[in-house]
Amino acid sequence: MYRRKTATRGGGLGAPAARVGAWLVGARGSVATTSRTGAAAVAAGLAPPTGLVTALAPFDRVALPKLSELVFGGHDLVDTPLVKRAEALAYAGVLPGSLLHAVADALDAGEADILLGVGAATGTRPPRRAIERIQRDVSSFQAAHALDTVVVVDLASTEARMAGPWLDCSLEALDRMLDQRRTVLPASVLYAYAALDAAWPFVDFTPSVATQLPALRELAGARHVPYAGRDGKTGQTLVRTALAPLFASRNLRVCSWSGTNLLGGGDGEALADPVRAASKLASKGRAVPSILGYEVDGSLHIDHVPDLGEWKTAWDHVSFEGFLGTRGVLQLTWQGCDSTLAAPLVLDLVRLVAAAQRAGLEGPLAPLGFFFKDPVGSSEHRLDRQFQALCDWAAGLEGSR
Ligand SMILES: NC(=O)c1ccc[n+]([C@@H]2O[C@H](COP(=O)([O-])OP(=O)(O)OC[C@H]3O[C@@H](n4cnc5c(N)ncnc54)[C@H](O)[C@@H]3O)[C@@H](O)[C@H]2O)c1
Repeated sequence: MYRRKTATRGGGLGAPAARVGAWLVGARGSVATTSRTGAAAVAAGLAPPTGLVTALAPFDRVALPKLSELVFGGHDLVDTPLVKRAEALAYAGVLPGSLLHAVADALDAGEADILLGVGAATGTRPPRRAIERIQRDVSSFQAAHALDTVVVVDLASTEARMAGPWLDCSLEALDRMLDQRRTVLPASVLYAYAALDAAWPFVDFTPSVATQLPALRELAGARHVPYAGRDGKTGQTLVRTALAPLFASRNLRVCSWSGTNLLGGGDGEALADPVRAASKLASKGRAVPSILGYEVDGSLHIDHVPDLGEWKTAWDHVSFEGFLGTRGVLQLTWQGCDSTLAAPLVLDLVRLVAAAQRAGLEGPLAPLGFFFKDPVGSSEHRLDRQFQALCDWAAGLEGSR
């Protein structure tokens, strides 16, 4: 559970605005490119802030970093120029073509701050070396831009689920493993460790295990740093967590809830691998039984359909029983563009997590559960309750203006 520290970090009334960096892991991916293009376009007044939760009235009085003030950097394993990536997204109809010319300079200027990332530790070198390299890269970025803090956001491809002793060990045990050559670890854990250890707030937008590890929770506590996760709630789960309370509050018994997702794009390609899809399905599957209070029949599928490009379709079939056992069915189809659903959330999270750190908060930021399929630090999945909790929490941050 997050808690307020006794001493704040100079974010009091009248304090100068903090300079905030956003370090995107997976910086050349669809969500990262859309986030950067969107931030530049909204900051320049070329697009309205539609889709940004932090543009709503409850956040007016919170001292959030402005989009125009965010400085972006990041890691990726590929070197496709951001402008090329943005052009491909415009060609696919994700980004308005008219924006490209206007934001091209901003995207080009950011190239120097996107560095080669690290892959999973495969048991050939001590993972500590990769962590130290990540920290050197982010520290140089922070120093070069004179940033007060850097929020590290994991936007890398969905990883395969991996098992290992690091899943439930202590920080002391993990620290020993990091120095051993034979240790095998997912890249997400290396990035999360690097961020938390250096007291940079961490946001896990993917279904990776990083923010679930007791050792990393311990590390965040030891370094007094806030973190949020996991797996952005942008489509089917968003709709499910709005609808499931309807059945619960009307005492309608859900007999089965089945779902199918058709997905193109890079994420769709990654999730075509059943081992990677398993981590996504696990985080998607938690909300409905948690809200209803019982397990329901029905399965959840993710199918890769390259033809759909960046668009996704989610179909839900809910069979329920009402008064005197009379049955009913709800069928719903949700269609949306993956990256433009996700990008404003990434910007919201950077702004909110930076404000939380400035207000002296640390540990898992449960009120940010509104943004995630599998919220860390909270078992609340009902969308309306999550939104209220977020607004109440933001009201508490007003003093840090
Ligand atoms: N609506 C959404 O788009 C949505 C919702 C929830 C979660 N997510 C998650 O966000 C992530 C990104 O989605 P996307 O559509 O941008 O995917 P994408 O495939 O377009 O981009 C992922 C990027 O990560 C890079 N990458 C892979 N491994 C890396 C590593 N070890 N270090 C640095 N970079 C690495 C890839 O090269 C690629 O550029 C995925 O994990 C996805 O599950 C997306």
